[in-house]
Amino acid sequence: MKNQKEYLEIHKDRFIKELFDLLKTPSISANPANTQDVLDMANLVKTSLIKIGCDNVEICKTPGYPVVYAEKIIDPQSPTVLVYGHYDVQPADPIELWDNPPFKPLIKTTEIHPEGAVFARGACDDKGQMFMHIKAIEYLIATNQLPCNVKFMIEGEEEIGSPSLDWFVKNHLEKLQNDVILISDTGMISNTQPSITTGLRGLSYMEVTVTGPNRDLHSGLYGGAVGNPINILSKMISRLHNEENGVTIPGFYKNVEILSSEERAEMAKAPFSLEDYKNSLNLKEVYGEAGYTTNERNSIRPTLDVNGIWGGYNGDGAKTVIPSKAHAKISMRLVPGQDHEEISELFANYFKSLAPKAVLVEIKTHHGGHPYVTPTNHIGYQAAKKAYEATFDKSPIPQRSGGSIPIVSLFEKELKSKSILMGFGLDSDAIHSPNEHFGLFNFFKGIETIPLFYKYFTELSKYE
Ligand code: BES
Ligand code: MN
Ligand code: MN
Repeated sequence: MKNQKEYLEIHKDRFIKELFDLLKTPSISANPANTQDVLDMANLVKTSLIKIGCDNVEICKTPGYPVVYAEKIIDPQSPTVLVYGHYDVQPADPIELWDNPPFKPLIKTTEIHPEGAVFARGACDDKGQMFMHIKAIEYLIATNQLPCNVKFMIEGEEEIGSPSLDWFVKNHLEKLQNDVILISDTGMISNTQPSITTGLRGLSYMEVTVTGPNRDLHSGLYGGAVGNPINILSKMISRLHNEENGVTIPGFYKNVEILSSEERAEMAKAPFSLEDYKNSLNLKEVYGEAGYTTNERNSIRPTLDVNGIWGGYNGDGAKTVIPSKAHAKISMRLVPGQDHEEISELFANYFKSLAPKAVLVEIKTHHGGHPYVTPTNHIGYQAAKKAYEATFDKSPIPQRSGGSIPIVSLFEKELKSKSILMGFGLDSDAIHSPNEHFGLFNFFKGIETIPLFYKYFTELSKYE
């Protein structure tokens, strides 16, 4: 595209400075103490969209945190790309494990990012990646090269399961109308081997509470005579997997899409070193469902994981107590064929059936989302592929991801359009973990590649 390298070169430092400004606001949607920060963040996003020349920039009310909307309509006859991203972030805990304060962004080099990476909560997920889109459109508008219409929809509740988006999308069907949805909120294989995410797993997230006696008890006076909720909860959890590390919930695998051996062989061609994988995590051995490779286990297979477990005494020293209650948060990642509502129900019924009469079990469903797949023959995928080929000089590999973005299946259902997942993060970027970062190479590569998506998508649309 015209003047692209020059434009990037001239504005590089400003882009980084502007990204830093976004990263300084702790827009943690999960924490009520950060309510004002999340609202401030929506305003910062709004301002940055006005600054690049978007029209109708607004902060749209929802039952929860607002959605920032903006558009640039050049011609109603041209195709329309809807860009989705999120301005909220995960909590920074455990804060003591960060090398720099999570909301004081800092550039440091790493082995994987010799040209530097921005360290801050949200650097990669998703402020850095969302901001690449704003800067790509800045370039297209400033150089008069925007080839089609663009709409932005940036939300503030993704990290808590997008509870307001069902309402928002259903109430703004006209406004959100588009030909394709473009999202950078995933990753790629490596900086020398780009990939395009073609699948996301669904999610079913549960919380269980096991109650024994009506109060905490002296573990000497009562120990052995009443059910200890923590002992029992542990026993119940251990029954959720079998010896082969498969999930034991009856019906869990019933509708799971089975890939053909050809499809699995195709997947296995993606570059991957199990040794490097183990080393990067300090593991002697990997662990998972028998009969599947690591990359299959974390993408095309459903899973069940305990995310947190608590109860009883956790303070210093020892306290002899049988707790009244024990709790756990349990999530299941789902693959095509599985319905999150059905799976939540199967889980609840099975989990209750595992409980002895000595305890009472309560089960709460948190958020959920359906799995998603993008076909590689979609013109959006083809446009993205051509864009990566131009900027990486290498063809991108289609790859299913293990993560979830529940809104994507909602978009498909309500807006009838497919999402193209052009993620520029790396698995080693530590999203949701301490020391999250985003490579400057990745940030600028994104800003360089995205404009080409618009060019090729507009061209390919003419032949549809
Ligand atoms: N951006 C991630 C999802 C992601 C990351 C997908 C990397 C693929 C590769 C998103 O912000 C996220 O964290 N999603 C949550 C689900 C949500 C309901 C809390 C997840 O996957 O745990
Ligand atoms: Mn994200
Ligand atoms: Mn996330």
